[in-house]
Amino acid sequence: MSRSLARSNKHYEKALTRLPLGVTSNFRYWGADKTIYVDHAKGGRLWDIDGNEYIDYRLGYGPCILGYADERVDAAARAGMDVGGVFALSTEREYNVAERIAKMVPSAELVRFSNSGTEAVMAALRLARAYTGKDSYVMVEGGYHGVWDAVAWYTPMKNWEPSQGDPEVVPMSAGIPKLIKELLHMVPMNDANRLEDLFKARGHEIGAFLIEPMMGNCCSITATRQYLHDVRELCRRHEVLMIVDEVKTGFRVARGGIQELMGFKADLCTFAKAMGNGYPIAAVAGREEIMRLIGDEVLHGGTFTCHSVAIAAAEKTLEILDETPALKTIKDYGVRLQQGIGRILKQRGIAHSFVGHPSMGGLFFSSDPPTNYRDWAKTDYSFYEALAPELHDLGIICEPDSREPWFICEAHDQSCLDETLDIFEQAVDKVLSQLKTASGKAPKKNRRSL
Ligand SMILES: Cc1ncc(COP(=O)(O)O)c(C=O)c1O
Repeated sequence: MSRSLARSNKHYEKALTRLPLGVTSNFRYWGADKTIYVDHAKGGRLWDIDGNEYIDYRLGYGPCILGYADERVDAAARAGMDVGGVFALSTEREYNVAERIAKMVPSAELVRFSNSGTEAVMAALRLARAYTGKDSYVMVEGGYHGVWDAVAWYTPMKNWEPSQGDPEVVPMSAGIPKLIKELLHMVPMNDANRLEDLFKARGHEIGAFLIEPMMGNCCSITATRQYLHDVRELCRRHEVLMIVDEVKTGFRVARGGIQELMGFKADLCTFAKAMGNGYPIAAVAGREEIMRLIGDEVLHGGTFTCHSVAIAAAEKTLEILDETPALKTIKDYGVRLQQGIGRILKQRGIAHSFVGHPSMGGLFFSSDPPTNYRDWAKTDYSFYEALAPELHDLGIICEPDSREPWFICEAHDQSCLDETLDIFEQAVDKVLSQLKTASGKAPKKNRRSL
């Protein structure tokens, strides 16, 4: 039986009178009859205002790495509240957290805090331009780096065919100056030759190569170790700074993030999501020589940076991630979840593969996972898109968009796993029977506009 969203639907109508799309981020709008409003969340579970309970694999797009309302972090945040908020002055705690980050991520020699991933990446690009004196920059197709003008560009794949050459680069939003495109270059992931050609031709203008090596916004498609090491060397040779956006992978895929997993060091890196278990805090960090430009030469600040609640939450979250086996618990759960899902799909002869890291894994309905965004656009994700609403109805929240990986938190326990697999099996069978009813047609190709 379908869950009721009567109260959410009603609230949506009301919210629409004051809030565009009835929500506070475009990505929270799932349609007039599907947008969910949250009552509360705890651990790995979330309850909506209709009283529906879900096991949540979105976790706010990754931040709640320990689980919602984690008592250890919330106690620290409450103590942070007693400190007083924001002062247009610093506290001693900021040093403690910077010290912890530098210990966990060796490339993070110096640290500056921000409120969001967007702000941290903005600071990183500014620093790279200031350091190199070069304004152009490179992004990787399929990557996401926030909602600001320089990075809100993408390559629409809807009608793209490889024979057409490179896909067109367009802004994600109206209101983004077209002039920016003159500074931006896009390259496909895992093709170091393409990057080398670009650097040879335009390296004298390019100050930064910005990459999300495990694309947490594109099914966790991951750069190979070889590619990252090649890119590292190319950047060095062409005096381009390598900015590694670890907003999703940071403190999640390893204590030292993707840089530890792949054994390389960024010039600059950015962190946010897992850093404060959901409290709004982010950081740009990197080589001392670059970071020291902040001050005399590079402007960086913000009224709300390092609010005493957020920095206290980050201090406790990072302490837990660094000093306890939380990341192992998370990874093990992810492995068992993928094994269970794999078993269910295999029993039914459904081709599939997993990409990325078990703590933020992408699920593909094909045995050959894509290695870049162009490959992804050619995959058939209609089965996922049919499955996701069934999972929602049965009590699992995953992203309706197949590009978002499934995030795991420390609070996902055995009961979550057992229920998830039970629900997953039911949902798969529902979709299979729908497909059968639709006269046994194979899942149709259904490319999206992004
Ligand atoms: C890799 C990456 N960079 C930057 C951002 C922007 O972060 P925020 O939404 O905190 O501004 C995101 C958000 O999802 C992200 O995944």
